[in-house]
Amino acid sequence: MAPGTRLAGKVAIVTGGASGFGRGIATKFVQEGANVIIADLSAEAGQALAKELQCNFTLADVTKRDCWEHLLKVAIDNFKQLDIVVNNAGITYPNKATADVTDKDFDLVMNVNVKSIYLSTNILLPYFLENKKPACFITVASTAGVRPRPRLTWYNASKAAAINATKTMAVEYGPQQIRFNSVSPVIGTTGMTHLFLGKPDTEENRKQFLSVVPLGRGSTPSDVANACCYLASEEAAFITGVNIEVDGGRCV
Ligand SMILES: NC(=O)c1ccc[n+]([C@@H]2O[C@H](COP(=O)([O-])OP(=O)(O)OC[C@H]3O[C@@H](n4cnc5c(N)ncnc54)[C@H](O)[C@@H]3O)[C@@H](O)[C@H]2O)c1
Repeated sequence: MAPGTRLAGKVAIVTGGASGFGRGIATKFVQEGANVIIADLSAEAGQALAKELQCNFTLADVTKRDCWEHLLKVAIDNFKQLDIVVNNAGITYPNKATADVTDKDFDLVMNVNVKSIYLSTNILLPYFLENKKPACFITVASTAGVRPRPRLTWYNASKAAAINATKTMAVEYGPQQIRFNSVSPVIGTTGMTHLFLGKPDTEENRKQFLSVVPLGRGSTPSDVANACCYLASEEAAFITGVNIEVDGGRCV
């Protein structure tokens, strides 16, 4: 699609922007004129993409408070403002029986998928409130948070928590014009897919997951990026508290 100006003049943090859906979101946001800060644990992939897109890469672990403080500083030092936060970084333990889940598995999904959202808002909301500027948070959740499948109990629960927290904050901060929305993809082909499947990511192994998608395929990075771009843009100025299922009808 031709480059546009839907996010011109905006500054956006995209977590997990080095890979998969986040890579698609960062690319789309740059194409639409935003100054993007890719925040990711993966330095190599993040730096390579930032070079390609000519945007900022900041090494970050979104489960750490000081990383969020640093990300705000990067935004202000480089661009003098921050407008959009896409909490996309996410993780799962491999598909397994719930009885076999370990404390480490549980802590991992809750820290990366939920605590990161808590920290992002805990640190960035005071900045947005002080500046009295409209702002927007987007959570990349999952159909797993709405229509859970077996054997991913705590991943599913982390995404349900992410969707619920996003809606709660939409209600709480609506009067201050800070919008909170989420986007829920169905399974796609990314760095995480083999973990959802619990086996190698092949066409054959994906069949069972895709058989319940009316449109007959998985979510692509550009499907997810297009929804995020809409939510981040002025076109969505009156949209808050929604969870857009980018899932080819899976959740119907
Ligand atoms: N792939 C799917 O099928 C699928 C389906 C629904 C929802 N999702 C969600 O989409 C989001 C993006 O995942 P993806 O599928 O693109 O996976 P991915 O593994 O390709 O990308 C995730 C990125 O997040 C980064 N990351 C992980 N932990 C981090 C941390 N603590 N701090 C900073 N960065 C971190 C990784 O380095 C990676 O670049 C996740 O929230 C995931 O739960 C994925």
